[in-house]
Amino acid sequence: MNKILITGVNGQIGTELSQKLLAKVGPENIVGLDIRPALPPYAFPHETIDTTNKEAIRQVVEKYRIDTIFHLASLLSARGELNPDQTWDVNMGGLKSMLDIARGTGIKIFWPSSIAVFGPNSPKDNTPQNTILDPNTMYGITKRAGELLCQYYFDKFHVDVRSVRFPGIISHETEPGGGTTDYAVEIFYEAIRNKVYTSFVREETCLPMMYMEDAVRSAIEIMLAEKEQVKVRTSYNLAAVSFTVTEMVAEIRKHIPEFLCNYAPDFRQAIADAWPRVIDDSRARQDWNWQHEYDLSGITQDMIENLRQKLQMT
Ligand SMILES: NC(=O)c1ccc[n+]([C@@H]2O[C@H](COP(=O)([O-])OP(=O)(O)OC[C@H]3O[C@@H](n4cnc5c(N)ncnc54)[C@H](O)[C@@H]3O)[C@@H](O)[C@H]2O)c1
Repeated sequence: MNKILITGVNGQIGTELSQKLLAKVGPENIVGLDIRPALPPYAFPHETIDTTNKEAIRQVVEKYRIDTIFHLASLLSARGELNPDQTWDVNMGGLKSMLDIARGTGIKIFWPSSIAVFGPNSPKDNTPQNTILDPNTMYGITKRAGELLCQYYFDKFHVDVRSVRFPGIISHETEPGGGTTDYAVEIFYEAIRNKVYTSFVREETCLPMMYMEDAVRSAIEIMLAEKEQVKVRTSYNLAAVSFTVTEMVAEIRKHIPEFLCNYAPDFRQAIADAWPRVIDDSRARQDWNWQHEYDLSGITQDMIENLRQKLQMT
Protein backbone atom coordinates (compact mmCIF):
# COMPACT_ATOMS: atom_id res chain seq x y z
CA MET A 1 0.00 0.00 0.00
CA ASN A 2 2.33 2.75 -1.21
CA LYS A 3 0.29 4.76 -3.74
CA ILE A 4 -3.43 4.46 -3.16
CA LEU A 5 -6.37 5.31 -5.43
CA ILE A 6 -9.79 5.59 -3.76
CA THR A 7 -12.77 5.60 -6.14
CA GLY A 8 -16.12 6.89 -4.85
CA VAL A 9 -14.04 9.01 -2.48
CA ASN A 10 -16.85 11.55 -1.92
CA GLY A 11 -19.24 8.90 -0.59
CA GLN A 12 -20.19 7.76 2.90
CA ILE A 13 -17.29 5.30 3.20
CA GLY A 14 -14.80 7.06 0.89
CA THR A 15 -14.73 10.28 2.92
CA GLU A 16 -13.78 8.40 6.10
CA LEU A 17 -11.52 5.75 4.58
CA SER A 18 -9.54 8.51 2.86
CA GLN A 19 -9.04 10.35 6.17
CA LYS A 20 -7.84 7.17 7.88
CA LEU A 21 -5.45 6.33 5.03
CA LEU A 22 -4.26 9.93 4.88
CA ALA A 23 -3.13 9.67 8.50
CA LYS A 24 -1.37 6.38 7.69
CA VAL A 25 0.44 7.11 4.41
CA GLY A 26 0.35 10.91 3.94
CA PRO A 27 -1.31 13.13 1.31
CA GLU A 28 1.39 12.53 -1.30
CA ASN A 29 0.38 8.85 -1.43
CA ILE A 30 -3.40 9.20 -1.89
CA VAL A 31 -5.45 10.05 -4.95
CA GLY A 32 -9.22 10.44 -4.77
CA LEU A 33 -11.54 9.79 -7.70
CA ASP A 34 -15.26 10.39 -8.03
CA ILE A 35 -17.78 11.33 -10.69
CA ARG A 36 -18.35 14.44 -8.54
CA PRO A 37 -15.70 17.14 -7.96
CA ALA A 38 -13.54 17.13 -4.84
CA LEU A 39 -15.01 17.94 -1.44
CA PRO A 40 -13.14 20.23 0.98
CA PRO A 41 -10.63 20.13 2.72
CA TYR A 42 -8.83 19.10 -0.55
CA ALA A 43 -6.06 17.31 1.29
CA PHE A 44 -4.90 15.16 -1.68
CA PRO A 45 -5.19 15.16 -5.51
CA HIS A 46 -8.65 14.43 -6.91
CA GLU A 47 -9.71 13.21 -10.36
CA THR A 48 -13.30 13.78 -11.50
CA ILE A 49 -13.90 10.73 -13.71
CA ASP A 50 -16.59 8.11 -14.36
CA THR A 51 -15.22 4.70 -13.30
CA THR A 52 -16.69 3.06 -16.40
CA ASN A 53 -14.20 5.11 -18.49
CA LYS A 54 -11.47 2.48 -18.37
CA GLU A 55 -8.89 4.39 -20.40
CA ALA A 56 -9.23 7.54 -18.27
CA ILE A 57 -8.78 5.42 -15.12
CA ARG A 58 -5.77 3.66 -16.64
CA GLN A 59 -4.16 7.07 -17.28
CA VAL A 60 -4.75 8.07 -13.65
CA VAL A 61 -3.22 4.79 -12.44
CA GLU A 62 -0.14 5.35 -14.63
CA LYS A 63 0.15 9.07 -13.84
CA TYR A 64 0.31 8.49 -10.08
CA ARG A 65 1.99 5.03 -10.22
CA ILE A 66 -0.89 3.54 -8.21
CA ASP A 67 -0.26 0.14 -6.57
CA THR A 68 -3.45 -0.17 -4.48
CA ILE A 69 -7.06 0.60 -5.40
CA PHE A 70 -9.97 0.88 -2.97
CA HIS A 71 -12.81 0.70 -5.47
CA LEU A 72 -15.88 2.09 -3.69
CA ALA A 73 -17.75 3.88 -6.52
CA SER A 74 -21.16 2.29 -6.89
CA LEU A 75 -24.89 2.88 -6.97
CA LEU A 76 -26.51 1.43 -3.84
CA SER A 77 -29.54 -0.79 -3.26
CA ALA A 78 -32.47 1.62 -2.97
CA ARG A 79 -31.16 4.10 -5.54
CA GLY A 80 -30.31 1.14 -7.77
CA GLU A 81 -33.92 -0.03 -7.88
CA LEU A 82 -34.91 3.39 -9.25
CA ASN A 83 -32.39 3.03 -12.09
CA PRO A 84 -31.46 -0.61 -12.66
CA ASP A 85 -29.82 -0.09 -16.10
CA GLN A 86 -27.41 2.53 -14.80
CA THR A 87 -26.74 0.38 -11.71
CA TRP A 88 -25.63 -2.54 -13.87
CA ASP A 89 -23.46 -0.28 -16.04
CA VAL A 90 -21.75 1.55 -13.17
CA ASN A 91 -21.34 -1.37 -10.77
CA MET A 92 -20.22 -4.01 -13.26
CA GLY A 93 -18.47 -1.65 -15.70
CA GLY A 94 -16.56 0.09 -12.90
CA LEU A 95 -15.39 -3.15 -11.26
CA LYS A 96 -14.36 -4.68 -14.60
CA SER A 97 -12.37 -1.52 -15.42
CA MET A 98 -10.40 -1.89 -12.17
CA LEU A 99 -9.81 -5.64 -12.57
CA ASP A 100 -8.66 -5.20 -16.18
CA ILE A 101 -6.29 -2.39 -15.24
CA ALA A 102 -4.83 -4.53 -12.42
CA ARG A 103 -4.14 -7.53 -14.72
CA GLY A 104 -0.42 -8.20 -14.98
CA THR A 105 0.55 -5.14 -12.90
CA GLY A 106 0.58 -6.42 -9.30
CA ILE A 107 -1.97 -3.75 -8.30
CA LYS A 108 -4.01 -4.85 -5.27
CA ILE A 109 -7.73 -4.09 -5.16
CA PHE A 110 -10.23 -3.78 -2.31
CA TRP A 111 -13.83 -3.95 -3.47
CA PRO A 112 -16.77 -4.12 -1.06
CA SER A 113 -19.62 -6.50 -1.69
CA SER A 114 -22.73 -6.38 0.50
CA ILE A 115 -25.32 -8.36 2.44
CA ALA A 116 -27.46 -7.57 -0.63
CA VAL A 117 -25.98 -10.73 -2.24
CA PHE A 118 -28.41 -12.70 -0.08
CA GLY A 119 -32.04 -13.08 -1.09
CA PRO A 120 -35.43 -14.43 -0.06
CA ASN A 121 -34.23 -18.05 0.12
CA SER A 122 -30.97 -17.42 1.99
CA PRO A 123 -31.06 -18.44 5.67
CA LYS A 124 -31.94 -15.36 7.76
CA ASP A 125 -30.09 -16.23 10.95
CA ASN A 126 -26.43 -17.09 11.27
CA THR A 127 -26.25 -16.87 7.49
CA PRO A 128 -23.23 -18.97 6.43
CA GLN A 129 -20.40 -17.91 4.13
CA ASN A 130 -21.50 -20.41 1.49
CA THR A 131 -25.24 -20.64 1.08
CA ILE A 132 -28.12 -19.86 -1.28
CA LEU A 133 -27.46 -16.51 -2.92
CA ASP A 134 -30.54 -15.34 -4.81
CA PRO A 135 -30.48 -11.51 -4.69
CA ASN A 136 -33.62 -9.85 -5.98
CA THR A 137 -32.36 -6.28 -6.46
CA MET A 138 -30.18 -5.07 -9.33
CA TYR A 139 -27.67 -3.89 -6.71
CA GLY A 140 -27.52 -7.38 -5.15
CA ILE A 141 -27.20 -8.97 -8.58
CA THR A 142 -24.23 -6.72 -9.43
CA LYS A 143 -22.61 -7.55 -6.08
CA ARG A 144 -23.02 -11.31 -6.59
CA ALA A 145 -21.82 -11.14 -10.20
CA GLY A 146 -18.97 -8.89 -9.02
CA GLU A 147 -17.91 -11.44 -6.40
CA LEU A 148 -17.70 -14.14 -9.06
CA LEU A 149 -15.77 -11.80 -11.35
CA CYS A 150 -13.25 -11.15 -8.54
CA GLN A 151 -12.81 -14.90 -7.97
CA TYR A 152 -12.37 -15.38 -11.74
CA TYR A 153 -9.72 -12.65 -12.06
CA PHE A 154 -7.88 -14.04 -9.03
CA ASP A 155 -7.88 -17.63 -10.36
CA LYS A 156 -7.25 -16.85 -14.02
CA PHE A 157 -5.14 -13.65 -14.00
CA HIS A 158 -3.74 -13.68 -10.41
CA VAL A 159 -5.26 -10.28 -9.60
CA ASP A 160 -4.96 -9.85 -5.81
CA VAL A 161 -8.51 -8.61 -5.21
CA ARG A 162 -9.95 -8.76 -1.69
CA SER A 163 -13.52 -8.23 -0.62
CA VAL A 164 -15.95 -8.19 2.31
CA ARG A 165 -19.73 -8.26 2.35
CA PHE A 166 -20.43 -5.06 4.28
CA PRO A 167 -23.57 -4.91 6.41
CA GLY A 168 -25.36 -1.53 6.81
CA ILE A 169 -22.79 1.10 7.75
CA ILE A 170 -23.62 3.72 10.39
CA SER A 171 -21.65 6.98 10.40
CA HIS A 172 -21.88 10.70 11.14
CA GLU A 173 -19.37 12.29 8.75
CA THR A 174 -21.11 11.96 5.35
CA GLU A 175 -24.76 11.08 4.88
CA PRO A 176 -25.45 7.75 3.15
CA GLY A 177 -26.08 7.63 -0.59
CA GLY A 178 -29.30 5.66 -1.14
CA GLY A 179 -29.07 2.27 0.58
CA THR A 180 -31.77 0.25 2.36
CA THR A 181 -30.05 0.64 5.74
CA ASP A 182 -30.03 4.47 5.54
CA TYR A 183 -32.77 4.54 8.21
CA ALA A 184 -30.17 3.49 10.78
CA VAL A 185 -28.31 6.76 10.10
CA GLU A 186 -31.27 9.09 9.43
CA ILE A 187 -32.81 8.12 12.79
CA PHE A 188 -29.90 9.76 14.66
CA TYR A 189 -30.08 13.01 12.66
CA GLU A 190 -33.83 13.30 13.24
CA ALA A 191 -33.64 12.28 16.91
CA ILE A 192 -31.24 15.19 17.47
CA ARG A 193 -32.88 17.75 15.16
CA ASN A 194 -36.59 17.11 15.72
CA LYS A 195 -36.90 14.35 18.37
CA VAL A 196 -39.12 12.41 15.97
CA TYR A 197 -38.37 10.10 13.01
CA THR A 198 -40.56 8.25 10.54
CA SER A 199 -38.88 4.96 9.66
CA PHE A 200 -39.29 3.53 6.15
CA VAL A 201 -39.01 -0.01 7.55
CA ARG A 202 -41.16 -1.65 10.23
CA GLU A 203 -40.16 -1.65 13.89
CA GLU A 204 -39.30 -5.38 14.03
CA THR A 205 -36.96 -5.12 11.00
CA CYS A 206 -33.62 -6.54 12.09
CA LEU A 207 -30.52 -6.16 9.90
CA PRO A 208 -26.77 -6.59 10.36
CA MET A 209 -25.04 -3.24 10.98
CA MET A 210 -21.54 -1.93 11.59
CA TYR A 211 -20.04 1.34 12.79
CA MET A 212 -17.88 3.20 10.27
CA GLU A 213 -14.79 2.94 12.49
CA ASP A 214 -15.03 -0.84 12.28
CA ALA A 215 -15.87 -0.84 8.56
CA VAL A 216 -12.88 1.30 7.60
CA ARG A 217 -10.58 -0.76 9.82
CA SER A 218 -11.80 -4.00 8.20
CA ALA A 219 -10.99 -2.68 4.72
CA ILE A 220 -7.48 -1.71 5.77
CA GLU A 221 -6.90 -4.94 7.72
CA ILE A 222 -7.90 -7.27 4.90
CA MET A 223 -5.61 -5.32 2.56
CA LEU A 224 -2.70 -5.61 5.00
CA ALA A 225 -3.24 -9.34 5.62
CA GLU A 226 -0.71 -11.77 4.11
CA LYS A 227 -1.86 -13.07 0.75
CA GLU A 228 -2.12 -16.66 2.07
CA GLN A 229 -4.46 -15.52 4.87
CA VAL A 230 -7.07 -14.33 2.37
CA LYS A 231 -8.63 -17.64 1.44
CA VAL A 232 -12.08 -16.50 0.31
CA ARG A 233 -11.71 -14.77 -3.06
CA THR A 234 -15.35 -14.07 -3.73
CA SER A 235 -16.14 -12.00 -0.63
CA TYR A 236 -16.04 -12.57 3.13
CA ASN A 237 -19.16 -12.40 5.28
CA LEU A 238 -18.47 -9.57 7.73
CA ALA A 239 -20.51 -8.68 10.80
CA ALA A 240 -20.59 -6.60 13.93
CA VAL A 241 -24.07 -6.30 15.49
CA SER A 242 -27.69 -6.90 14.50
CA PHE A 243 -30.63 -5.02 15.98
CA THR A 244 -34.25 -4.08 15.30
CA VAL A 245 -35.50 -0.52 14.89
CA THR A 246 -37.28 -0.91 18.25
CA GLU A 247 -33.95 -1.73 19.90
CA MET A 248 -32.34 1.35 18.30
CA VAL A 249 -35.17 3.56 19.51
CA ALA A 250 -34.80 2.24 23.07
CA GLU A 251 -31.05 2.90 23.00
CA ILE A 252 -31.49 6.44 21.60
CA ARG A 253 -34.09 7.17 24.33
CA LYS A 254 -31.40 6.56 26.96
CA HIS A 255 -29.84 9.80 25.61
CA ILE A 256 -32.96 11.61 24.29
CA PRO A 257 -35.90 10.37 26.44
CA GLU A 258 -38.56 12.31 24.49
CA PHE A 259 -37.59 10.74 21.13
CA LEU A 260 -40.49 9.22 19.16
CA CYS A 261 -40.37 6.93 16.13
CA ASN A 262 -43.23 6.45 13.63
CA TYR A 263 -43.39 3.84 10.90
CA ALA A 264 -44.31 4.25 7.23
CA PRO A 265 -42.77 1.31 5.36
CA ASP A 266 -42.10 1.89 1.65
CA PHE A 267 -40.52 -0.15 -1.19
CA ARG A 268 -37.36 -0.55 0.88
CA GLN A 269 -39.20 -2.86 3.33
CA ALA A 270 -39.27 -5.64 0.72
CA ILE A 271 -35.53 -5.26 0.15
CA ALA A 272 -34.84 -5.42 3.90
CA ASP A 273 -37.10 -8.46 4.27
CA ALA A 274 -35.00 -10.41 1.76
CA TRP A 275 -31.74 -9.80 3.66
CA PRO A 276 -30.34 -11.79 6.62
CA ARG A 277 -30.89 -10.74 10.22
CA VAL A 278 -27.60 -12.12 11.56
CA ILE A 279 -24.52 -13.07 9.56
CA ASP A 280 -21.96 -15.75 10.42
CA ASP A 281 -18.58 -14.09 9.78
CA SER A 282 -16.43 -16.78 11.41
CA ARG A 283 -14.28 -17.23 8.26
CA ALA A 284 -13.15 -13.58 8.40
CA ARG A 285 -12.48 -13.94 12.15
CA GLN A 286 -10.43 -17.13 11.57
CA ASP A 287 -8.55 -16.22 8.39
CA TRP A 288 -7.44 -12.62 9.04
CA ASN A 289 -8.44 -12.10 12.69
CA TRP A 290 -11.43 -9.84 12.11
CA GLN A 291 -12.93 -8.40 15.31
CA HIS A 292 -15.52 -5.66 15.64
CA GLU A 293 -15.36 -3.12 18.46
CA TYR A 294 -18.65 -1.19 18.45
CA ASP A 295 -21.94 -2.64 19.72
CA LEU A 296 -25.32 -0.87 19.65
CA SER A 297 -24.68 1.13 22.82
CA GLY A 298 -21.19 2.20 21.64
CA ILE A 299 -22.53 3.21 18.22
CA THR A 300 -25.41 5.16 19.73
CA GLN A 301 -23.26 7.06 22.19
CA ASP A 302 -20.65 8.00 19.57
CA MET A 303 -23.24 8.97 16.94
CA ILE A 304 -25.12 11.22 19.35
CA GLU A 305 -21.98 12.89 20.66
CA ASN A 306 -20.61 13.58 17.19
CA LEU A 307 -23.90 14.64 15.58
CA ARG A 308 -24.70 17.03 18.43
CA GLN A 309 -21.40 18.76 17.66
CA LYS A 310 -21.85 18.62 13.89
CA LEU A 311 -25.42 19.96 14.01
CA GLN A 312 -24.46 22.37 16.81
CA MET A 313 -27.29 21.06 18.97
CA THR A 314 -25.62 20.31 22.27
N1 LIG B 1 -22.83 2.30 3.06
C1 LIG B 1 -23.25 1.06 3.28
O1 LIG B 1 -24.07 0.82 4.19
C2 LIG B 1 -22.72 -0.07 2.44
C3 LIG B 1 -23.09 -1.38 2.74
C4 LIG B 1 -22.62 -2.42 1.95
C5 LIG B 1 -21.75 -2.16 0.90
N2 LIG B 1 -21.39 -0.87 0.63
C6 LIG B 1 -20.50 -0.65 -0.52
O2 LIG B 1 -19.45 0.24 -0.19
C7 LIG B 1 -19.11 1.05 -1.33
C8 LIG B 1 -19.18 2.52 -0.95
O3 LIG B 1 -20.49 2.79 -0.47
P1 LIG B 1 -20.92 4.22 0.09
O4 LIG B 1 -21.92 3.97 1.13
O5 LIG B 1 -19.73 5.03 0.39
O6 LIG B 1 -21.70 4.80 -1.18
P2 LIG B 1 -22.11 6.31 -1.50
O7 LIG B 1 -23.31 6.27 -2.38
O8 LIG B 1 -22.13 7.12 -0.27
O9 LIG B 1 -20.85 6.78 -2.37
C9 LIG B 1 -20.58 6.29 -3.65
C10 LIG B 1 -19.70 7.31 -4.36
O10 LIG B 1 -19.47 6.82 -5.68
C11 LIG B 1 -19.57 7.90 -6.58
N3 LIG B 1 -19.93 7.38 -7.90
C12 LIG B 1 -21.12 6.88 -8.28
N4 LIG B 1 -21.06 6.51 -9.57
C13 LIG B 1 -19.80 6.77 -10.00
C14 LIG B 1 -19.13 6.60 -11.23
N5 LIG B 1 -19.73 6.07 -12.29
N6 LIG B 1 -17.84 6.97 -11.32
C15 LIG B 1 -17.19 7.51 -10.25
N7 LIG B 1 -17.78 7.71 -9.06
C16 LIG B 1 -19.07 7.33 -8.94
C17 LIG B 1 -20.65 8.82 -5.99
O11 LIG B 1 -20.54 10.14 -6.48
C18 LIG B 1 -20.38 8.69 -4.50
O12 LIG B 1 -19.50 9.70 -4.04
C19 LIG B 1 -20.08 0.64 -2.44
O13 LIG B 1 -19.47 -0.34 -3.26
C20 LIG B 1 -21.23 0.02 -1.67
O14 LIG B 1 -21.91 -0.92 -2.46
C21 LIG B 1 -21.85 0.18 1.37
